[in-house]
Parts: sequence; structure tokens; C-alpha cells
Amino acid sequence: MSENDITIIEPLRGPLDGSCRVPGDKSISHRAILFSAMAEGTTRVSGVLDSNDVRSSIQAVRQLGAEVNLTKAIDGSLEGGITGWGAKGPSQPDGPIDCGNSGTTARLLMGVVAPWDIRVTITGDESLVTRPMRRITAPLMKMGVNFEPAGRETLPLTVVGDRNLHPIDYDAPMSSAQLKTAVILAGLYAKGTTTVTEPSPSRNHTELMLPEYGADTTAGYRTASVNGPCQLKACEVSVPGDPSSASFLVCAAVLKRGSNIQIENVSLNPARTGFVRTLERMGANIDTRITGYAGKEAYGIISAAYSPNLAGCEIPAQHIASEIDEIPVLAMVAAHARGITVFRGVGELKVKESNRLAAVVDVLGQIGVDAWDEGDDLFIQGQPGLRLEPGLVFDSRKDHRLAMTWSILGLCGSVPVGIRDFDAVKVSFPTFRAQFEELVKE
Ligand code: S3P
Repeated sequence: MSENDITIIEPLRGPLDGSCRVPGDKSISHRAILFSAMAEGTTRVSGVLDSNDVRSSIQAVRQLGAEVNLTKAIDGSLEGGITGWGAKGPSQPDGPIDCGNSGTTARLLMGVVAPWDIRVTITGDESLVTRPMRRITAPLMKMGVNFEPAGRETLPLTVVGDRNLHPIDYDAPMSSAQLKTAVILAGLYAKGTTTVTEPSPSRNHTELMLPEYGADTTAGYRTASVNGPCQLKACEVSVPGDPSSASFLVCAAVLKRGSNIQIENVSLNPARTGFVRTLERMGANIDTRITGYAGKEAYGIISAAYSPNLAGCEIPAQHIASEIDEIPVLAMVAAHARGITVFRGVGELKVKESNRLAAVVDVLGQIGVDAWDEGDDLFIQGQPGLRLEPGLVFDSRKDHRLAMTWSILGLCGSVPVGIRDFDAVKVSFPTFRAQFEELVKE
């Protein structure tokens, strides 16, 4: 039911029970589209997430001359062939590329077009045009790329590519897989070794996937490098389920009495499963089992069950990158746990699709939970047995992860809640509500 952009989320009619799969991983899907577009030949892809963000990447590579022939499979994912521009390079697009809400599309695209003799204007929606881009433009400028207007730190920006990029050895000021990927993609065409070192390890899909396309990359703990020049070649990519989407089902199962679920075929890349380790430390009934590898990406099963004795814990800054997108939903779990939970060094949350740090503190305040930020740290004083007042409405701030995070409060509580702009879920998990319906045991 929707009224004035407010969607009512009713409490689950019973515990979550049984097995399911979640849609394809968003990070891997973006990379599959972009890397295949850069490659020589036709890459077969399957399991690709069908969501607004991934559609932004598909639209972008089409504008640059790649041929994308994907159709919807029975499970709702996209599959088919992508024929890249290969050695001849991308074509000059006839207008700006609008990346919508997708920071990953915009930032990775800068690295994709940087080594070519083209000018590409990149823009986005009202959220994306406020997000910081200097983190990408600064290292790419060191490699010889220009941006117009000079000195501008947000979109719209025009990338002025250059065929003679120099390799760099870059010490990144923050842990960001988007930054790392943009530099490595530009580095594919620079002569020599391009290296990015981060304060703590960010997701490593790029380093794991590029060798499948024939690139000479190495992946260390906090370091990634590529030896250029190198032309990517078509391969086959199968995308496992998205652990970030799975985290909503997992946290709901942990909070909802009687629940017991298994999520199959989900990425178990350790750079993405920090939320599982945090939930374990909080005393949740949760387990993972690797059942296979898609290329170098581990996938398998996450099992989670109702956990009545949750306790707060402290998450150190160096673990944050492995659960950065899950902090808001983990904060909702922490709100139900005994004692204080501290997330150290979560300043990056301020520059996501919305200011997620401020939003979490606001909503926890709205439900009567004591939560505050001090510098870049987030503190939550949990309340076991927390009950919500009727009539609460939460604002998603048009941010997909916040729409889903606030929904967990309604689904796992005993009164309905309203979510403003719930539609934002289409960015990463369009089937979010249906997925819960499927698992409810009446
Ligand atoms: C992503 C990296 C992370 C993450 C985002 C997806 C990626 O962003 O929050 O949802 O696919 O590379 P940062 O690179 O800004 O940390």
C-alpha cells in the first residue's frame, strides 16, 4: 500500500523459514558489464543483477559502443552476451552519460575512458552529483588524465582521456574499491606497473575478475597492482548472489523469533562478509559454508536463525570496509542487543547515496534508542526487548539501503511502519519485499 510516497511495511505474519537465493551481486555485476565492454570479443554473462544501478552501467557502455544483448532468465537475473570495443577503444558518445544513482558506474567509468582519445561527460541524479569525485580525479590526474572544469570535485565532470597514461604507485587516503578499480582500469593501458595501496583492505572483485579477462593483476592484503599495457579478452562470468542484499534477510532472521533460513549461492568473498563476523561476535546464530567458486569468487550458503541473546561489540576501523554497506542494518541489530556497540571509523557513511551516519542516528533517536556519533565513530546503546510505538514513518532519503534497513524495523516488530520513498530499493534489490513473503511461515 502506498500513499503520498509512503509505503506501509506490515510485521511479518510468522517466522522466516527455509531456503532462498538473492539476486546477483551488484559490485560483480557492474564489473562484469564494464570489463566485458572493454574486452575484445563476446563475453557470456549470467546471474547479472537486474536493477536500476546495473542498468546505468549497461546504458553507459552502450553509449560508448559496446553491444549488450542480455535477456531476463527465469530467476529474474540478466544473461547473454556483451561484445566489447576491444583494441579499437570506446567511441565518442554523442551526449553526457547519466549514471543515475550509481556511484560505482560513475567512478569506474572514469578509469574505463581515461586511456582513450575521447571526451566523456559524466553526470548523475540529485544524490550522485553531490558525492565526492576528487578521490578518483586526483590519482587519474597523476596518470595524465584531465578533467573539466578543472578543480571541480563533483559531477558533472568531463573526462579528457589520454592515450599516454603513466603508471603510478598510489597511496589511497581512504579504503575504496571504486577508487582502486578506477586506477587499476586506467593502469591496464599505462606502460609499467600501477599499484594502489589502501589503509585497510576494500572489496577485491576487480583484482579477482580481471585475470579471467587475461589481465596481469596481483592482489595483496591492502595492495592491488596491474602490469600494462594489456588488452582484455572475452571470457565467461557467472555472478553469485549479493551478500549485501542477503544481509537484510539475515538480520531479519536474527531478530524475528522462530526464524531459521539458508541463503544459497551467495558470494562468500571475505572482503564482503564482515557483517557475518560482526553478527557472530554479537552472539547471533549464523554460519557460512563455501560450496563452489565462480572464477576466483567463493560462493556458498549463509544460514541464520533467531538469536535471543545478542550483545553489543566494538568493530575496529580496519574491519569497516568489509561491511561498509551493511553498517545501517547492523545498527538496527545493535539497537536490539544488550550493551553498547561501537563502529569505529565509519566516516565514509557520510558520503554514500545519503549521509547514512546521520540517518542512522536520527532513526534510532526516533525509536527511542540512544545513538550518537563522535568524530567518525558510531555508538549505539542497545535495548533488548525494544518495542516500537505505532504510527512511525521513516524517510529513506531516496537511499536504497536505508529504505531496506528501516523496513527491517517494521517486518520484525509488532506494529506497521511507514517508509517514505521505499521505491529506492529498485537500485539494488527490486524483489526485496517478495523475497520476505517467500520465506514467511504462517
Ligand atoms: C563498491 C564499493 C564501495 C561500496 C559500494 C560498491 C564497489 O564503495 O560502498 O556500494 O562496487 O566497488 P567505496 O568504494 O566508496 O567504498
